[in-house]
Amino acid sequence: MKGRDLAKRAAELRRLLERANYAYYGLDRPEMSDAEYDRLFRELRDLEARHPELRTADSPTLRVGAEPATAFKKHRHLVPMLSLANAFDAAELGAWEDRNARLAPEVREAGCTLEVKIDGAAVSLTYDDGVFVTGATRGNGLEGEDVTANLRTVLDVPLRLAGKGWPKKMEVRGEVYLSKSRFEKLNREREQAGEPVFANPRNAAAGALRQLDPKITRSRRLRIFCFHIEAPGQKVAIETQHELLRRLAEWGFPVEPHYQLVRDLSHAHAAIAKLEQLLPTLDYGADGVVVKVNRRALHAELGTVGDREPRWAVARKFAPEVQVTKLQQIDINVGRTGALNPYAVLEPVEIGGVTVSTATLHNFELIKAKDIREGDLVEVTRAGEVIPQVLGPVVKKGVRRKSPYRPPAECPVCGSTVEHPEDEVAVYCPNVSCPARILEGIVHFASRGAMDIRSLGYERVRALLNAKLIHDVADLYDRNQLNLLQLLTLEGFAEKSAQQLLDAVDSSKRQPLSTLLFALGIRHIGWQGARLLARHFGEMGRLRAAKQEEIAAIRGVGPAIAAAVAGFFNDPKNRRLLDRLKRLGLRMDEPTAGPGGEGPLTGQTYVITGTLPSLSRTRAAELVEAAGGHVSDSVSRNTTALVVGADAGSKLDKARALGVPLIDEAELLRRAHSKR
Ligand code: IVH
Repeated sequence: MKGRDLAKRAAELRRLLERANYAYYGLDRPEMSDAEYDRLFRELRDLEARHPELRTADSPTLRVGAEPATAFKKHRHLVPMLSLANAFDAAELGAWEDRNARLAPEVREAGCTLEVKIDGAAVSLTYDDGVFVTGATRGNGLEGEDVTANLRTVLDVPLRLAGKGWPKKMEVRGEVYLSKSRFEKLNREREQAGEPVFANPRNAAAGALRQLDPKITRSRRLRIFCFHIEAPGQKVAIETQHELLRRLAEWGFPVEPHYQLVRDLSHAHAAIAKLEQLLPTLDYGADGVVVKVNRRALHAELGTVGDREPRWAVARKFAPEVQVTKLQQIDINVGRTGALNPYAVLEPVEIGGVTVSTATLHNFELIKAKDIREGDLVEVTRAGEVIPQVLGPVVKKGVRRKSPYRPPAECPVCGSTVEHPEDEVAVYCPNVSCPARILEGIVHFASRGAMDIRSLGYERVRALLNAKLIHDVADLYDRNQLNLLQLLTLEGFAEKSAQQLLDAVDSSKRQPLSTLLFALGIRHIGWQGARLLARHFGEMGRLRAAKQEEIAAIRGVGPAIAAAVAGFFNDPKNRRLLDRLKRLGLRMDEPTAGPGGEGPLTGQTYVITGTLPSLSRTRAAELVEAAGGHVSDSVSRNTTALVVGADAGSKLDKARALGVPLIDEAELLRRAHSKR
């Protein structure tokens, strides 16, 4: 074939494959057999391999997943990505319209669209001349992460738009989600592989979107629904939201099919009630109905509240479903810190389309305060897909109940007498050798936020402990304890999986001190505390030698943390464990931020005022300090810049008077993360 014919064939293959994708994913009406699809796909892939000049940004071959990245680039949204205000009942919805009518009286007659509110991860897709060029997460609303390679693997994201009339450059907003059925399948597989399960489809989707390896994202099979566009500075001849949704579908975007137009709010209420019934039956998580003013001209007129939410849309949320069922018994799980966590074993009950048979009871004080007893009928809820919880007993007059619940005086696993620190609600098993604590501790040590030893989850840790191949975390690294031959004697290990596990263990030796400190599971030490300690002392030896007062004097470290850390390092058992970890080759120091231990903000002082769009004050301060900078409470001539959030106070006036530069959160993030 000649060059021109090859280019034509490549274009044809792209079109055929994308059409097949759309029919399969967008319409749920496959038009092509899998074998035929594979044949065309291979043809295009080979063609592109031989003639790289034929590769295009919209080629379906890119959907297979690019090479893993080491980090995501930042992506600044053309227009901020907003969130939505909530309305929990008809009256709040009415108040929303009343407020809008004061700004633009026409809203009452403009009609409203009702859309299912998808509960996933918000994304923005940029199209340039109808070709998908960039995809980003929401991030802080102004700036997200560039996850283009991952979004290309989402098979119903159109790579090239169909139809006509799309703005030359536009950002399409949508929600990436994982179907409930996929979520359950994925969790079953993870459980079998000993990997931690996802708490809910939303977390699973957000996690998949932020994988550095697009092949992992692809394997999760994310989906998307789109509902909004931004095309600043361009004329868009689409008058209503209802029409926009129709056009989005024409252009090839998946649009949640239950959207509808109602004449006014009085018609909305009945339609919303119907949708409320529908939501739990859908195969995707939906956490409400979005009500939008239909006429787009009014969107511009009504505008937004800060950079936070549009006035022209509101999320109608529903009170979480509550069901009554029998509390069969109260069981206890012992966590890695030794905390005894009571939970309810329930007669299975369906809540929001899911069968619930256990629910958390939080702590013993709550059980007492609510007088929850075994055998009671209890109200159970599952708010926003989180772990089900028991709200309280339903006590009927004349029904005999069991006697009040008595918290155990001994650890249900090892029998040690429990301790109840005065200033805490939690009750602890004090025995560091308690089998439950050891199991949970090792699982935590290996978990993703800690040493990140892939494929070492509950089931495997339990198997290794039961087979006595390990007794503590140091044994994982000790090849006299744990080696290939021994792993192969265990069920569920083949040569490849065993070697993979050992490799993952070995590569975790390179984790920095902060990660190791967090992984050790010292009471009160979260990842932030671990980082403060690691940055201050730089290396394990110095931290071990430090006095409690010295630890307590570190900015951001309180007396409780200092006492816990000192206590941990004073314990001979822990000292022996650390000596062993060191001998086994684990890294015991913290990389410094820049040359000479400095960060990009060294020598700079920032003051923060007002509410920042995504960071809490504490988090923002931590960020500055982690980058070597300093945070002060008052503005002076020495202030490098004032970070301004919403509703800024008098600091803003003072900064203006002194000529101190003003920056926003996005700028702060950029500076703190910049390389010097
Ligand atoms: S409209 C300017 N419509 O909910 C556009 N949002 O809690 C504002 N969401 O950030 C959003 N389904 O990610 C809109 N049909 C829908 C939606 C929807 C899901 C998400 C979206 C938004 C979040 C706000």
